[in-house]
Amino acid sequence: MKKDNLTDPYKRLHKGFKGNQEPQSVQDNLCTLQAMRDEAREGGGRNRIEQQHARGKLTARERIDLLLDEGSFEEFDMLKAGRSGHIGGGGAVLSDGVITGHGTIDGREVFVSSQDFTVMGGSLGEAHSEKISKVMDHAVRTGAPYIGINDSGGARIQEGVDALAAYGEIFNRNVKASGMIPQISCIMGPCAGGAVYSPSMTDFTFMVEQSSYMFVTGPHVVKTVIHQDISAQELGGAAVHSQKSGVAHFVLPNDILCLREVRRLINYLPSNNRQKPPFLDLRDPPDRIDPTLDYLVPVKPDQPYDMKVLIHSVLDGAEFLEVHKEYARNLIVGFGRLGGQTIGLIANQPAILAGVLDNNASVKGARFVRFCDNFNIPLICFVDVPGFMPGPDQEHGGIIRHGAKLLFAFIEATVPRITVIVRKAYGGAYLVMNAKHIGADINYAWPTAEIAVLGPRGAAEIIYRREIQSSEDPERTLAEKEEDYRQTFLNPFLAAKRGYIDDVIFPRETRGRLIRSLQVLEGKEIETPKRKHGNIPL
Ligand code: HXC
Repeated sequence: MKKDNLTDPYKRLHKGFKGNQEPQSVQDNLCTLQAMRDEAREGGGRNRIEQQHARGKLTARERIDLLLDEGSFEEFDMLKAGRSGHIGGGGAVLSDGVITGHGTIDGREVFVSSQDFTVMGGSLGEAHSEKISKVMDHAVRTGAPYIGINDSGGARIQEGVDALAAYGEIFNRNVKASGMIPQISCIMGPCAGGAVYSPSMTDFTFMVEQSSYMFVTGPHVVKTVIHQDISAQELGGAAVHSQKSGVAHFVLPNDILCLREVRRLINYLPSNNRQKPPFLDLRDPPDRIDPTLDYLVPVKPDQPYDMKVLIHSVLDGAEFLEVHKEYARNLIVGFGRLGGQTIGLIANQPAILAGVLDNNASVKGARFVRFCDNFNIPLICFVDVPGFMPGPDQEHGGIIRHGAKLLFAFIEATVPRITVIVRKAYGGAYLVMNAKHIGADINYAWPTAEIAVLGPRGAAEIIYRREIQSSEDPERTLAEKEEDYRQTFLNPFLAAKRGYIDDVIFPRETRGRLIRSLQVLEGKEIETPKRKHGNIPL
């Protein structure tokens, strides 16, 4: 730091007040404390704060103020500084480039760390990591969510291997806290190298457009190794991670909206895995019917429609917090409430790729299901799926492995599980999308449901092949056989006859039926076998 040549902030402050002598009175100590706090609050100084603002970024403290309820922040380790002795004296700055502590979001405690880019680029060394580790430990012990705000140049170069060890401390804690408390990361500046692995092991990653980026190797290394020119944003900006890689679950245009969205997410979640999610009554009548749903599914079987119409119609107050909104849009996942209770929703989207399941959608769905199961959030599944995406891209990309993840995640989930088959439910995809046969508790179908091994054309082509080939008009015969198949198999009644569907319901009544089902499943308990962990096909 260029603020001062002295490396020990304690000596520096005493020197300023008492001519390098120890304080003589209580008043001296109070002044010293005040001066130290002022210095810590100043971070890297006015110039660097202005630079931060000029880049459209808030400071670490401003971010905490926006994230937490007003006046609720209790800071830890404001006066902590790095040990001297590192090359260049790096680290001897009050707060050591990260602000940590706890506060409330709508009255519920959370623990928070916020990296201060104005202090040595928010780089992470030993003391910095100890501060983050302390709040993570408190979060686990007290059962409160942990929110990490990242804005950092990575491992503090002056601290050498100590900085790498410091990252290890955080990685360990991310994994140990996983499934015990919700962990949320906000990327609000650089996040590069091995540093990306802490946020990517947390439950949800938020990014801010333009001002944040994440990559394992940056543009300079890309240029050197594979001779490609690429900007930081093109390589690892918010758009890339929300649309292509799936690293970012949420992207917001600026810091303010991002932090507001984190608050919104926290409101759906329990504080830890021993609690149920908070109940919030939005005064939406549980027995509200929506007659327009009776006409949602088009008459023509291959015509798309927007599944979000159904989602918004049934949820309390039409409130839906979509996760991974821009990624694998053929599957919709997110949080809502039914009768005041948080639910996790997984739905095929017939408006995108006909709602087919592909590699990305399978992984997106599997991770979401596992999060909900970790945190006692019931799962609601709306099904309209023609199958898995065919073709060498998907097969070679691992559709067998990835589809198995979604199947595994559903089967493993012990929270209440309810399915509504809206239209297509074909083949393996019928099973994977929370069918009765893989342990769903209550399965409904709309009268428009088509539950079958194959779609009508494919089925007719296979079972009537000889008849079609020997016919004088193969196209006409195929069409007739297709229609026969449709009439016989493409309905929910065969499945209802077997009890695979608990009831065929009027679409307009979906909301009320779901809320009653959640109520009856509230006491659901399942003994899980004693084992270290299952072996999900990663
Ligand atoms: C120490 C750092 C630092 C770092 C930045 N600074 N990164 N100090 N260690 N890693 C300091 C700068 O010296 C500078 O100090 C101040 O922060 C602001 O940096 P600038 O370069 O002026 O800012 P900017 O132009 O915005 O560029 C930001 C940046 C760049 C892109 C992050 O600073 C940069 O490339 N830093 C190094 C990134 C890096 O290679 N980190 C290691 C990655 S590997 P002054 O006093 O001059 O203002 C890693 C491994 C993790 O992290 C391992 C986990 C297992």
